[in-house]
Amino acid sequence: MRVGVLTGGGDCPGLNAVIRAVVRKGETGYGDELVGFEDGWRGLLEDRRSVLDVERCRGILPRGGTILGTSRTNPYRVEGGPEAVHATWERAGLDALIAIGGEDTLGVANRLAAEGLQIVGVPKTIDNDLSATEVTFGFHTAVQIATDAIDRLHTTAESHDRVIVCEVMGRHAGWIATYAGIAGGAAEILVPEEPFDIEEVCAHLRARHAKGRYASVVVVAEGAKPKEGSLAVRSGELDAFGHERLGGIGNVLAEEIERRTGMESRVTILGHVQRGGTPTAFDRVLATRFGVAAIDAVHDGAFGMMVALRADQIVRAPLAEAVAALKTVDPGLVHEVAEVFWG
Ligand code: F6P
Repeated sequence: MRVGVLTGGGDCPGLNAVIRAVVRKGETGYGDELVGFEDGWRGLLEDRRSVLDVERCRGILPRGGTILGTSRTNPYRVEGGPEAVHATWERAGLDALIAIGGEDTLGVANRLAAEGLQIVGVPKTIDNDLSATEVTFGFHTAVQIATDAIDRLHTTAESHDRVIVCEVMGRHAGWIATYAGIAGGAAEILVPEEPFDIEEVCAHLRARHAKGRYASVVVVAEGAKPKEGSLAVRSGELDAFGHERLGGIGNVLAEEIERRTGMESRVTILGHVQRGGTPTAFDRVLATRFGVAAIDAVHDGAFGMMVALRADQIVRAPLAEAVAALKTVDPGLVHEVAEVFWG
C-alpha cells in the first residue's frame, strides 16, 4: 500500500517515535511505500511530500519535535481547502493516511474520513485532553519537565520565603497542572475546569505561611480563569482553529497574591520548554505501540478510527468519539488528592 503520514498541531515529544514505528512496520512488515507530508494538513493542501523510509528514520527515536514539521493549518478554513486535499491524495496515489495529532488535527481527519478518505488517527498532545484514550503520548514527558521545574522552584522559594507561581500549558484542561502539581507538592493547583476564587487562594497561602517560614509554589494552567468579575485578565488573538493564544494568568496571579497578602511573589512561565526535547521512556514506548498499531489498523481497513490506550491495551476507537468532547480532569483527583496538601 502507499500510505501517507502527517503530524499536525503543536509538536510533542514522541512524534518521531510514532513515525519511526509506522515506517519500520509498514516497510519491513507489509512492504508499504510511505509518504511523509510536511507541516501537517498544509502539506496536503500544498502537495509537499517526500519519501519516508527506514533509512530516514535512523536515530530519531529519542529526538523531540517532528522530522515532518507541523502546523495548525485547517483545510476547512481555507477557500477550496478540502478539494485541494482530495486532489493531492489522487496525485500522490495514496491508499491511506495516518494523521498524528490532537483534537484539531483529528477533527479534520474525522471530516475527511466522512468524505471517503481512508484515514487512521494517532492521538498526540502534551495536554492529554483527547477523549477515547486514557492517555496521549507527550503528556508524561511534559509532566516530568514541569515536575522537575517545580522541584527547582521550591528550593529558591524556600531560600527567599516567597510564593512562586508556576504557569504550565493546558488551555481547556488542567492535566499537566494537576499531575505536576501533585508530583511536585504544590501549595495550590488552579485548572481551567474550575474557576478559582483569588481570595480563597490568598487565604490558603496566608494560613500556610502563618505556620512559619513556609515557601509556596502555586501551579496554574494557562487556561485557568478567575470566578467571574473577581479578577481582570487579558485575552489573546485567535489561531486557525479559533483558539485564543494564552499566557498571562501566571503574571496576574503573582501580582495579585503579592498585592493582597503582602508576600513577595514571583512567576515562572514554563511555556514551550514543556513541549521540547527528548520524550521519556514511557512516551517512547507508548508512541511506538501507537505507531505499530496504526499501520496494522491501515492493513485491517479500520478507517475513520484512532488507536487508543485503555487498561494498558492498544485498542481502536472511532475518530468521531475522540473529538466529540474534551477529556477534562477528574474533579476527584483535585479535591480528594491534591487538595489534601493545600493551606
Ligand atoms: O499542544 C497544545 C498546547 O500545548 C496548548 O497547551 C497550548 O496552549 C498551545 O499548545 C500553544 O501552542 P502554540 O504556541 O504552538 O500555538
